[in-house]
Amino acid sequence: MKILAIESSCDETAAAIIAGEPVNSTSSAPQAMPELLSSVVVSQIDIFKSYGGVIPEVAARSHLEAILPVIHQAFVGAGLTKKSGNSSAPEDDWDQIDAIAVTHTPGLLGSLLIGTLTARTLSILHDKPLYAIHHLKSHIYANWLPSTDDKTIETSYDSTKAPEFPLLSLVVSGGHTQIIRMSEHNNFEIIGTTLDDAVGECYDKIAKILGLPYPGGPSIAAAAKNGNPDKYKLPIPQIKDLDFSFSGLKTAVLRAVQKEVNVPISYPSYKLAELLSTQQKADFAASFQKTATKILLDKLAKALSQYPDTRSIVIAGGVSANEDLRNTALARFSNKTKVFFPALKFAGDNAAMVGVAAFYEIASGIKPTDPYKLNIMPRSEIC
Ligand code: KG4
Ligand code: ZN
Repeated sequence: MKILAIESSCDETAAAIIAGEPVNSTSSAPQAMPELLSSVVVSQIDIFKSYGGVIPEVAARSHLEAILPVIHQAFVGAGLTKKSGNSSAPEDDWDQIDAIAVTHTPGLLGSLLIGTLTARTLSILHDKPLYAIHHLKSHIYANWLPSTDDKTIETSYDSTKAPEFPLLSLVVSGGHTQIIRMSEHNNFEIIGTTLDDAVGECYDKIAKILGLPYPGGPSIAAAAKNGNPDKYKLPIPQIKDLDFSFSGLKTAVLRAVQKEVNVPISYPSYKLAELLSTQQKADFAASFQKTATKILLDKLAKALSQYPDTRSIVIAGGVSANEDLRNTALARFSNKTKVFFPALKFAGDNAAMVGVAAFYEIASGIKPTDPYKLNIMPRSEIC
């Protein structure tokens, strides 16, 4: 079967087509991994660079402009077009599509609305079943996609190398920081979560303090390469169980910067970057990144000790692109447990991961959604 997947939860408009034969989970036949036929992502980063962050109304408008061309490009990329009557331009071959998948939660309301309204309309128009997919589920399932770009990272595609259950997933994105245990496909238990900010949000806010461009994660990672990670001592929050907190770390960096440049705490934070040298910025970036990685991986280590039957660690979400996190996780855990990351091109938001998540929903026997009744939710837990 072929699945057209659509993603528009934040500031990326994306469509992808995946192909495969979902085997019902009650069957003893092994499940072959699906194949990716096309993946198109149009990012709004260039629009939001000048604002230093996403403006939800602008994001929704940009999705509206991009979504139909992006879907068409996904058909073209997959070779699923046919000659149309009078026009010389090929048209999308809907006969070849068996299902549609779309992100319906969590995300920006206006952004989600564009993707889901498009998917609902196409589902009704072409009479295709519609699968409403949770965004974090998609991030986790990005680890079941091909990983051609990171040769050094052990990961999926070849089914002998797919993550094995039970697994622990560390989901690190702009909106979430969670440890999720999966005993099998589509079985999720949140065993740790952030009590305040997400780690990606913390990266973005600290980048702003340091005057580094949006999006903050990649900017901090780049600046950190020239910095001393031990220059500034930042606190590790003492949060009980497997939960996280990142708001204190953000404030700790702010106070350390104020101290470094010798200004009072009332000094406007948006003016601090002007007082920092390039080297100081690099040292703050490296010290923060080291601390963020340590906070995440210390909790993961604690979770592993509580769940000794864990067979794979699956790191997912935009922050999983972080090289320091990848290398440190491999160094700490890969001698005992297989560590998986998505290919770099599937770490951030994309639709290929939505298609794969839908594929495994179908394999698990989860029923499609009524396109007339699909709800969007700005926030909701994975289930
Ligand atoms: O998953 P994602 O693309 O969107 C959400 O679902 O939130 O994650 C975006 C987050 C942003 O906070 C961004 O700064 C962060 O991922 N990010 C990174 C890196 N690349 C993206 N954080 C650290 N290092 C990176 N290389
Ligand atoms: Zn995301």
